[in-house]
Amino acid sequence: MSNDGIQPVQWQDNQLLLLDQRLLPEQTVYLHYSKSNEAADAITDMVVRGAPAIGVTAAYAMVLAASEAMAVSADNWQQAMSPLIDYLAKARPTAINLHWAIVRMQACVDALDSSKDDALDILLEEAKTIHREDIQANKTMGEFASALLPENCGVLTHCNAGALATGGYGTALGVIRSGVANGKITHVYADETRPWLQGARLTAWELLQDKIPVTLIADSAAAYLMQQGKVQWIVVGSDRIAANGDVANKIGTYSLAVAAKYHGIKFMVAAPTSTIDMNMPSGDGIPIESRPADEVLGVMGQRVAAEGADSWNPVFDVTPASLVDAIVTEKGVVEQPNTEKILAMMQSSS
Ligand code: MRU
Repeated sequence: MSNDGIQPVQWQDNQLLLLDQRLLPEQTVYLHYSKSNEAADAITDMVVRGAPAIGVTAAYAMVLAASEAMAVSADNWQQAMSPLIDYLAKARPTAINLHWAIVRMQACVDALDSSKDDALDILLEEAKTIHREDIQANKTMGEFASALLPENCGVLTHCNAGALATGGYGTALGVIRSGVANGKITHVYADETRPWLQGARLTAWELLQDKIPVTLIADSAAAYLMQQGKVQWIVVGSDRIAANGDVANKIGTYSLAVAAKYHGIKFMVAAPTSTIDMNMPSGDGIPIESRPADEVLGVMGQRVAAEGADSWNPVFDVTPASLVDAIVTEKGVVEQPNTEKILAMMQSSS
């Protein structure tokens, strides 16, 4: 169950390849990018989505930006990258992994001698390392999280926090992959995740690729599912975790956490440390992306709402740390998170 099969982000022949997630599950189409601004637009337009996958894409987009800048200004290519980086940084506001990857690649750019012949190779190697590390982090998290689960465990997940949303293997779906492989998880429920249907289109498709049975529910069925005792853990990913453990994730995550607390069901967030924003003291300051009204007024581009109706479409929400039982990262598990525990985990060497 290594899930090496699903690779949303690839690098081939000096190009970035992105699996067009807007077309799944009907079509498996890779789009090719050789310009960083076009890769940034692909992030904005949700060709690629999910916080860690956005980070990995941004790392490769920085390689494209360097290559474009070198073609324009061989001597001053590091400075010439600036407008391209500024454009990339604005592609989506909530996932901190975008910013994290840019900062890490920028450090690599800054450390290079501008005249170095192999500068591009060095940058590409750094992007590939970011990609590899993300997959490894997900596998480590899967093992850590599996130890928390009881036997015969039912889980509910939200959105798509799988291989598609990461460099590979997945955060929440990585936990589910490991939990199923270890015999702990016996039933997986997935919210369909309106309005973009990441659960129905992507999570269901991805789990079925690995022959993991999945039961889809309407988002509004989640509290009833909990009341019926069908799940023991809610497992989700995150787009940004504040220093105090508040968690920004796909809209609807907060409702799940509130309902889980009421029903005495455990709530887990699986995310690599690249998703933790130590410069953000609490969730209050996390920018929440709003997307076009049309996404709520219709389904897959087909209008269903009454003509004249407007919509409000925030696509993330913030779950307070007090509703989170465990944050699982590649560095370890933080139970009942708070600022001190998260800082200690971030400073640990493992
Ligand atoms: O709008 P999306 O599809 O990019 O939102 C994705 C999510 O909210 C995921 O749950 C989150 O990025 C964690 S992905 C491992």
